[in-house]
Amino acid sequence: MNPMANIAVRAARAAGDLIARNIDRLDRLRVEAKGLNDYVSDVDRMAEQEIITVIRKAYPDHQFLGEESGSQGDHDHVWIIDPLDGTTNFLHGFPHFAVSIALQVKGRLEVGVIYDPVRQELFAASRGAGATLDGRRLRMPPRRSIDGRLIGTGFPFRHPRHMPAYMDMFQSVCMRAGDLRRAGSAALDLAYVASGRLDGYWEIGLNAWDLAAGALLIREAGGMVGDFEGSENYLKNGNMVAGSPKLFHDLLKEIQPHCTPAMRG
Ligand code: IPD
Ligand code: CA
Ligand code: CA
Repeated sequence: MNPMANIAVRAARAAGDLIARNIDRLDRLRVEAKGLNDYVSDVDRMAEQEIITVIRKAYPDHQFLGEESGSQGDHDHVWIIDPLDGTTNFLHGFPHFAVSIALQVKGRLEVGVIYDPVRQELFAASRGAGATLDGRRLRMPPRRSIDGRLIGTGFPFRHPRHMPAYMDMFQSVCMRAGDLRRAGSAALDLAYVASGRLDGYWEIGLNAWDLAAGALLIREAGGMVGDFEGSENYLKNGNMVAGSPKLFHDLLKEIQPHCTPAMRG
């Protein structure tokens, strides 16, 4: 394995163990609101520190972009970290959340790791070397369309201005898909797309730390990811569509007619 992927795995497991140790003491955690429906707990912060400590020991000069501590350093190697994706689930004891770590080198995603501390499942990818779940190679099943398929999504619960357009997208997809899931952790949901547990995914207004590792996992498992124009800008604008190549284009076709100018901003 790419030595940088090894470090990402070590960091993700360390943060995941910390999260797991806190599952039984949710009532004792300090929780603050950062914005509309956006919470942070001691566990999010401690998990991010744990990740940065592990990576910094191996790569003291690298740059970090962490959800809780922002951007630190200036380097062409940037670690993009969501220490706990699915905080709302975690705080409710709803067992679907994950640690997400990606490494971008000169603007290109090189490593992506997503770790589920509840099921102790590790999803990992390195550019050009494929994606794995607990060491087993992932290959997304080729789906021709969204008809009858299981599609994941995230609601724009922090961006109410997008709700009307989102509901139109939802209706269009729901009329054709087999069923839809809103499980509450974009990173883990994208890992589920890479592993074929979901056939596709879309969400409006994610952050780079929610989707960077998942995007690489999907690409390395043979799938496609793009923004609502089908382009590579999803890390910047946070709009994401994902699936195996034919399904990706079909899903995009249902979403595009409902896009608004506000989604491009
Ligand atoms: C959130 C989760 C959620 C998604 C949001 C994300 P957080 O991340 O991934 O499923 O719908 O867009 O911001 O705040 O729990 O790390
Ligand atoms: Ca997140
Ligand atoms: Ca988070």
